Amino acid sequence: MTVLLNQEEIHTGNLILVNQEYGYRQQVSGLAVPKGDGGEDFLLEEEAGASLNRLMARIDGWKHIVPVSAWRSLQEQQEIWDQSLEENGLEFTKEYVAFPGHSEHQTGLAIDLGYRKPQIDFIRPDFPYEGICQRFREQAGDYGFVERYPAGKEKITRIGHEPWHFRYVGVPHAAVMAKEGLVLEEYIAFLRGYEYGRSSYGVRFDWGEAWISYVRAQGAVTKLEVDAGYPCEISGDNVAGFIITEWRHLDEKQRAVCGN
Ligand code: DAL
Ligand code: ZN
Repeated sequence: MTVLLNQEEIHTGNLILVNQEYGYRQQVSGLAVPKGDGGEDFLLEEEAGASLNRLMARIDGWKHIVPVSAWRSLQEQQEIWDQSLEENGLEFTKEYVAFPGHSEHQTGLAIDLGYRKPQIDFIRPDFPYEGICQRFREQAGDYGFVERYPAGKEKITRIGHEPWHFRYVGVPHAAVMAKEGLVLEEYIAFLRGYEYGRSSYGVRFDWGEAWISYVRAQGAVTKLEVDAGYPCEISGDNVAGFIITEWRHLDEKQRAVCGN
């Protein structure tokens, strides 16, 4: 089966790299409201929201965890930046607030979570490495989420350690990032070593396996030949090309979960 990918599509998908260097170029679409216990109003991209809800249901998470901030418009990110600049100064703000236009929150794929308590710090909510928050963290990968700004990677992410900020990347990618100890910047660079059609990185689960590879955009339209017999997911990297995820031996139940 031939797949045609437009140049613009490198800026869409679960794996887009949005950081200080690469801004968010698209208008977000398909936002949904995950169903939290506290009735808090927040938006996430549909697949990410559904996966978060499944995870929360599994650990009864919404009882003790509160969604602090999920999707933000550019204007909202600007307001948060401006207010933090005024209250906390430039150094703090650069460490904990992405420059407007460069926040993962604008993509609908990121959420800040806090331990439910009367006073919650909006910019740096408490999300400790113990109890229910840690239980969430331990399960997050199985539902496609990664802790995006871990300690020790600040020079790469250019953001301070944020135990509360989770980014949806999809199940096989969260597993590989955890196994290889990579943040998204490193993971995208790593995948460029697996050129589509030449080599791919395999990750196996009880219920199926994923083969992951990378193709650079080839001008206005990139043409790919994929096996029509299997589910295939394609995401832009927001930089130069596409990540191709080809599923094999996927059981029926998982096909339904993956939406394939
Ligand atoms: N706190 C993260 C870096 C953001 O503002 O997107
Ligand atoms: Zn955040």
